[in-house]
Amino acid sequence: MIKHQKNSITGRLIVVSNRLPIIITKKDGKPHIVPGSGGLITAMAPLLKKHKGIWIGWIGTHDFSEEEIAKALHEFEKEAGFKLVSISLTKEEIADYYEGFANEIIWPLFHDLHALCNFKPSYWKGYQSVNIKFAEKIKSIAKNLDFIWIHDYHLMLVGKYLKQNYFNYKLSFFLHIPFAPIDIFLKIPWRFEILRALLDFDSLGFQTQRDMRNFIYNAKALLKDAIFRGSGNKTLCLTDSTVTKVGVYPISIDFDEFEEKAKSPEVEKEVQSIRQSLPGRKLVFSVDRLDYTKGIPYRLEAIANFLKSFPEFHRKVNFIQVIVPSRTDIQGYIDLKEKIDKAVSQINSEYTSPGWIPIHYMFHSLTPVQLLGFYRASDVALVTPIKDGMNLVCKEYAAANIEEKGALVLSEFAGAACQLKEAFLINPYDVEGTSRSIYEALTLSEEKRHFRMKKLRQKIRKENIYFWLNSILESSGEHPISGVPDEYIPEECQKFNE
Ligand code: UDP
Ligand code: G6P
Repeated sequence: MIKHQKNSITGRLIVVSNRLPIIITKKDGKPHIVPGSGGLITAMAPLLKKHKGIWIGWIGTHDFSEEEIAKALHEFEKEAGFKLVSISLTKEEIADYYEGFANEIIWPLFHDLHALCNFKPSYWKGYQSVNIKFAEKIKSIAKNLDFIWIHDYHLMLVGKYLKQNYFNYKLSFFLHIPFAPIDIFLKIPWRFEILRALLDFDSLGFQTQRDMRNFIYNAKALLKDAIFRGSGNKTLCLTDSTVTKVGVYPISIDFDEFEEKAKSPEVEKEVQSIRQSLPGRKLVFSVDRLDYTKGIPYRLEAIANFLKSFPEFHRKVNFIQVIVPSRTDIQGYIDLKEKIDKAVSQINSEYTSPGWIPIHYMFHSLTPVQLLGFYRASDVALVTPIKDGMNLVCKEYAAANIEEKGALVLSEFAGAACQLKEAFLINPYDVEGTSRSIYEALTLSEEKRHFRMKKLRQKIRKENIYFWLNSILESSGEHPISGVPDEYIPEECQKFNE
């Protein structure tokens, strides 16, 4: 077991993100806590727990009074071991800031899908006013020596509003999603304001070299006074009024915790139950939030291609696709759900025979035991986003693979592909190639499977979530190297986003 390295937070760890790690829903007219989903929550929760930190964010509902919410949060805090500070948003704020600016502009655009964007001016106004709201909350809570850490694309203006209000403590920002290349970033009507605001943070963290490089190109091209000094994670961006550290920190998971839980008797029982219900079958598992970036329609085409090309696998394989409901009030997500339902139903109606349904499809979230059960019981995990900041599902699959018998088929366009070279790397748009890789993963010898999975696990075990936190903390205390020419651009990647 890797020991968690020491780190240097002297004050409190204050994490700020759009969403708290829980959502309060209504059950029998009363507040009911359900866990939030997504990689940001999975990654940050263990850190908050360990440091007994504070998490500031939106509660995900506007249904309850402040007292009801406070009571529900208090219940959660007792178990979680860290404090939650909620920000309430009105219906209009949710529509303009969250559903609008964050999810109909930045999310699709930063995932290269600018055709899906809706650049409504009211979205920008809503985004600004909610970022001010978050900034005010931070100002009312932060104390000297706290490590104040703002997360993700919902809150890119928070640093600017805090600095405008004479807030002098250091502010770090981490972007969980990709950063758009210049020809795409340019399309945002508020591109200058966003770049300037990002430079009001004292440090900026990105998932991959590609994202940091995109940010640097954009800053150089659009901001006349932006110059860069240093290299790698010692890069500094200087403007007439700001100094910002810029670096690459691929986010990860609490490997030991996943591994340990995967070994528990509850998970063991779950594995047996899955295996017994599908005896003699190879299992190919996918789990994604409902999102068009996850490449699910292409994946289904690849599965159809596999079933057509490799009939010897009929009745011998089951594809298990779990989709976790997400952003279900946004039209693009409603449309995607319909598209997936239709594609699954077409494939199943073509290939099902008595006793065999090729795709087992679930549209709901899983409990941790169910998720680990599927990870452990599966022969192959299929993770095929068309673009993804990092993707933690693939890391979780490897961490839970305690018998080291599984194989990972992973998109080249997931940030994690830079680290996980022993996966079967695929181009999700190439449905024939993906279908062949599924075949190769299923037929790989046990020895080779074991070798590849062991390597994957070694990497993730070492570069775990604590390693990630420490890299960020360490570099926030370092000094830049001077004298590097202005034209400096970080090293080109060997392949895609590395
Ligand atoms: N996950 C979840 N609920 C579930 C199934 C999975 O919250 O029912 C988690 C999963 O364990 C993973 C996260 O959702 O930690 C997905 O993170 P990823 O980085 O792969 O993608 P994101 O959803 O953040 O785009
Ligand atoms: C991604 C984003 C997170 C977000 C999560 C779930 O992981 O990077 O910031 O929280 O998706 O999306 P939601 O819109 O439900 O918060």
